[in-house]
Amino acid sequence: MLLKDKVAIVTGSGRGVGKAVVLAMVNEGAKVVVNDVDEGAAIETVEEIENQGGHAIAVIGSVADKQVAHEMVEKAVSAFGTVDILMNNAAVTRPAMIHNMSDEDWDTVIDIDLKGVFNGIRAVAPIFKEKSKGNPDSLSNGKIINVTSVAGLTGTIGQINYGAAKSGVIGLTMSAAREWGRYRVQSNAVAFGIVETRMTETIRGEKFADTYKSKIVLERFATTEDVIPGILFLASSGSNYITGEVLNISGGYHIGV
Ligand SMILES: NC(=O)c1ccc[n+]([C@@H]2O[C@H](COP(=O)([O-])OP(=O)(O)OC[C@H]3O[C@@H](n4cnc5c(N)ncnc54)[C@H](O)[C@@H]3O)[C@@H](O)[C@H]2O)c1
Repeated sequence: MLLKDKVAIVTGSGRGVGKAVVLAMVNEGAKVVVNDVDEGAAIETVEEIENQGGHAIAVIGSVADKQVAHEMVEKAVSAFGTVDILMNNAAVTRPAMIHNMSDEDWDTVIDIDLKGVFNGIRAVAPIFKEKSKGNPDSLSNGKIINVTSVAGLTGTIGQINYGAAKSGVIGLTMSAAREWGRYRVQSNAVAFGIVETRMTETIRGEKFADTYKSKIVLERFATTEDVIPGILFLASSGSNYITGEVLNISGGYHIGV
């Protein structure tokens, strides 16, 4: 088991990639905090985990709200004793061409997709720092895994808010890596291309699917199962000497064809 007795918080884990990740983490021995704005989805995920004999609690609310970030950490500590892994996964899209983009769509995406990641990292800081004090020889006192996108590496058309937020997530990942290296906390990001989730329903539809697929070196969209092994690796001790890295799990979408 890669994550035996580890405690993980995964934001936006009521569905999509986040849900697949918490189920996989529990399978590897972790206890998890399931966060989502969608209460029904979060509760369903927790029930699914409990039905399989795993340990999970739900924290409902938006990652854009710093109180929710603190609540995730507090509840993880009171239920499971600590936090070992924080995966900042929750995000939304509000597409529009630049000239049509409203302030509201800009602010919503930046607040959730970028500030939400900062809120999570800041909330977990005292736990990771405290662990490092008690464990000067430990090779890892915490793992941060931030979810970014090829859109954050190459830019994107019709989603300048999302592209900017996801580029910001990479900067934030590297800054946290530098600031917390001394605490032996690894901060890395995963960049997806196109994963088969609710977020990509439109671009995977009949009208656009072939165009998008033709940009992917491996010529297919990712399933949520495809992205799990890389995430588990970054969450596990195998990545103790890797920090400030962006792992592209995109079928080569980031290098183009
Ligand atoms: N699907 C893709 O092709 C793709 C590509 C690149 C990057 N990503 C990234 O992967 C991550 C997961 O996306 P997904 O495809 O699973 O999307 P999804 O829409 O299927 O799931 C996202 C989950 O996050 C929740 N959520 C939304 N706003 C939230 C908030 N403010 N606070 C807490 N939870 C919130 C939603 O309710 C949902 O359950 C995101 O960071 C996304 O940007 C996805």
